[in-house]
Parts: sequence; C-alpha cells; structure tokens
Amino acid sequence: MPTILAIESSCDETGAAVCCDEKILSNIIASQKIHAQYGGVVPELASRAHMQNIVPVVDTALQRARIQLQNIDAFAFTQSPGLIGALLVGTQFTKSLALALNKPLIAVHHMQAHVLANLIASPKPSFPFLCLTVSGGHTQIVLCESPDKLKILGETMDDAAGEAFDKSAKLLGLPYPGGPLIDKYAGQGDPNAFHFPEPQVPGLNFSFSGLKTSILYFLQEKTKEDTKFVAKHLNDICASVQHRIISILLHKLHRASLITGIKDICIAGGVSANSGLRKAFKELGDKNRWNTFIPAFEYCTDNAAMIAITGYYKYLSGEFSDFSVSASARASW
Ligand code: KG4
Ligand code: ZN
Repeated sequence: MPTILAIESSCDETGAAVCCDEKILSNIIASQKIHAQYGGVVPELASRAHMQNIVPVVDTALQRARIQLQNIDAFAFTQSPGLIGALLVGTQFTKSLALALNKPLIAVHHMQAHVLANLIASPKPSFPFLCLTVSGGHTQIVLCESPDKLKILGETMDDAAGEAFDKSAKLLGLPYPGGPLIDKYAGQGDPNAFHFPEPQVPGLNFSFSGLKTSILYFLQEKTKEDTKFVAKHLNDICASVQHRIISILLHKLHRASLITGIKDICIAGGVSANSGLRKAFKELGDKNRWNTFIPAFEYCTDNAAMIAITGYYKYLSGEFSDFSVSASARASW
C-alpha cells in the first residue's frame, strides 16, 4: 500500500495531495486570485504565487492526511503540459523532496491525470473506456485501454472548450475565468432563446473559434439596436452559448462511442464541472445505455489528487523517473 505525495503546479492552482493505495487522504488547493484583474493567467505571476504557496500547501496536505514526510513512499508531480515557469516550481520542489528523502520520483502528464481522475471513486469505469477531457487548454476524446495506455481519438483544432466558455464570458463583460459564471447564469436562462451555429468538423475533432466569432457578431448587431441588450438577456445568452458548446462536445462523444462500440464513458477536466454538461452527458448516457462516470467537483478542475492517483498507478507498474527529468511546456504521452 504505497503512500504518495503529489504536487500540481501547471497553471494557476497550487495543489498537493496524499494518497494511500487508491484512497485520497488529502487534497489541498491554493487558487491564485491575482489573475482575475488581468482577464487571464499571467505566467510570471503564476510562478511567483506557486513559490509562495507550495510549502504551506504541502504542509497542509501532510497534516490533513496525518502523514509524516518520512513516511511517504514516492513523490509525484505534474511534469507537462502547462506554463513552464509554473511547472518548474512543482518539478524542482518535488525533485528536492525525493532526493533529500531518497525516495522514487514519478513524473505525471497532466492530461493523463485528468482522465484517471475517474479512477478515484467507485464504481470505476472498466477498461477500455472513453473520456471526453475538457479543460482550459485542451479538448480531447481519449481511448483509455489501461492506466498507462491512452490514445487521443480526436481533439480541438483551435480553442479548447474552456477557452470557448472564457472567451464568450469576456465578450459578455464577465470576469475571468468566465466558465463558472456562464454556468451560473445559464441555470436561469432559456437554452433555445438564441441560435448559434454548430461547426461542421470532420471526424472526432472539434473547433470552437467559429462559435466565438458568431457570438461576437451577434452581440455587435444586438447592442447596436439596444445598448442594454446584454444586461437584459444575460441569462438567455449564457444558456444558449452553453447549450451550443455542450452539443458540439456531446455529438462528437456520441460518434466516438458508435465508432468504437465502447459504452463505459467518462468526462474530465475543468469544464466537466459545468452543471449543464454533467446533466446532458448523463441524459445522453441513459438514452444510449452507457455507463457514465464524472469525477467529483473537486477532481474536475486542476487538483493534485488526480496527480496522486496517476502516480499510484505508475508506482504499481514501476514507472519511475530519474533525477534528470525536467518540466516541459508541451509533451506528448
Ligand atoms: O482543468 P482546468 O481546471 O485547468 C486546465 O487544465 O486548463 O480547466 C479550467 C477551465 C477554465 O476554462 C474554466 O472556465 C473552466 O475550466 N470551468 C468551467 C466551469 N468550471 C471551470 N467551464 C464551464 N462551467 C463550469 N462550471
Ligand atoms: Zn487541467
């Protein structure tokens, strides 16, 4: 029963988690509020905030788990992808801990970890399963044959689903990150109030840049007629935008299930926290007799528990890194 300490620092959340066997004993996240005033994540500020947060976050994770540092069997960290300065803080910190305590080091790919967040709770999906991973930087349909055998079947050709939410929110004058706010307002709105077109993209790939442009033109036209249009119709606009993003995602996921014949299907990543997507995904699953899986809210957006569970599976298969490993802004898996 290995006990693993995991660290996540790929973007603007500093996370540390402890797992023992498959059980998450603690999962601590320090969110960086500083970026909101700039309308997006400022990489240098993110690195500096990770530097400030990492020691207290790791200390708290150990305390909550009631584990002493010397009882940790292996140290896992997010190696890629992400902001290089942010990744470097977590990478170097974890390497130092593993080196000082003479314990194994486990490098984890952030996108693999989002998928494996679905293995934290029970019941778990059976292999092979499909996962729609939707985050601020990625949109992928992944075929997961085992914890370490993952294949991307389709991905976005431009913006990620999270970016589509955040950029739409920005056009509506909402602060960053706008995804959760669109979710909130959409809950009070009519998803069929306004029509935004669905792009025709071949295969299992996605595109969201056309949606952003059509929202921009729509708002320009409407605010010319009535300068208060957005304020008057915010809930309906949010519901209609959210409805279209969800339909783009779920049409491709449905197609992936038909092509592969796989019916154990998960969603993951920050956008899987979206209440409309969670509901529509469950409904589609029930209609098609899928076994559907969604991580708990705290394991959807960036967190270290997903790094810990991935670290656990890598520990079992002896996939350790040597100390020459370095952070990488973009690495395949
Ligand atoms: O996975 P994540 O925390 O970080 C990345 O790896 O990118 O995803 C962040 C993204 C942001 O774009 C954020 O707006 C979006 O997830 N997000 C949401 C919701 N919660 C987070 N989008 C829509 N509805 C939500 N409830
Ligand atoms: Zn992420």
